[in-house]
Amino acid sequence: MKKGLFITFEGQDGCGKTTQINLLVKYLKNSGYDVVLTREPGCSGLGEKIRNLLLDYDGEVSSVCESFLFLADRAQNVDIIVRKNIEAGKIVISDRHTDSTVAYQGYGRKLNIDKINMLNDIATGGLKPDLTYVFDIDVETSMKRVGKEKDRMESAGKEFFERVRKGYLQIAKNEPNRVKLINSVDSIENIHKQVVEMFVEKINNLQNLE
Ligand code: TYD
Repeated sequence: MKKGLFITFEGQDGCGKTTQINLLVKYLKNSGYDVVLTREPGCSGLGEKIRNLLLDYDGEVSSVCESFLFLADRAQNVDIIVRKNIEAGKIVISDRHTDSTVAYQGYGRKLNIDKINMLNDIATGGLKPDLTYVFDIDVETSMKRVGKEKDRMESAGKEFFERVRKGYLQIAKNEPNRVKLINSVDSIENIHKQVVEMFVEKINNLQNLE
C-alpha cells in the first residue's frame, strides 16, 4: 500500500493560516504532487451541516456537546476523505484537526486534556498527521484581524483566546517532531518560505527513514 502524507494547519482565528494553505497547495501542485485539501469543521456534505450548527447557532451551548460535534465532523473527515487519499499516495492537507480540539475545548473551554486526547484518538482511529504547522500570533493582533463580523467561536473573548494560544504553544513544545511553530507576525512571503522549508525537511527525513 503506497502511503501519502498528512499535513495539518493550526492556530488561533485570524492567524493567517488560510492564506498559507493556499500558497502551499499551489507550491505542491506546481512541484507535481497530488494534493487533496479538506477542513474541519466542514469537510463534506454532512460536515458542512455540522459546521453550520457549530458556528451559527446563537443559543447556549454545552462545552461537551460542542466537543462531540467537532469530533463527529473529524471522524467524518478522516473516514470519508483523509484516510483513503493518504492510502492512494496523495498529500492530504486539513485546515484544522485534532490540535484544535485540544487548544479550543481543552485549554479554551477547560475540559480535561487527557479525555480530549482519548476522544480524538477514537475520532481518527489513531491516524496522526505527519506534519502540523501551528501559526502563533498575539491575541490582540489576531482579534484585530478577525474584525467585527464574528462567528460563535470567534466571539469567545480575550481570556479564552489567551488560553487557546497557550494550548497551542504547549502542543508544539510536547511534540517538536510533528509540530512546527511559526511566528505569524511576518510577511506572507517570509512565512511561505518557512512553510516550504519545513515541508522539504519533513520529506527528506521521511525518505532517510525508508
Ligand atoms: P475555521 O474554519 O478555521 O474558521 P474560519 O473559517 O472562520 O477561519 O474554524 C472554525 C472555528 O472552530 C474556529 O474558531 C476554531 C473552532 N474549532 C474548535 O473550537 N475546535 C475544533 O476542534 C475545531 C476543528 C475548530
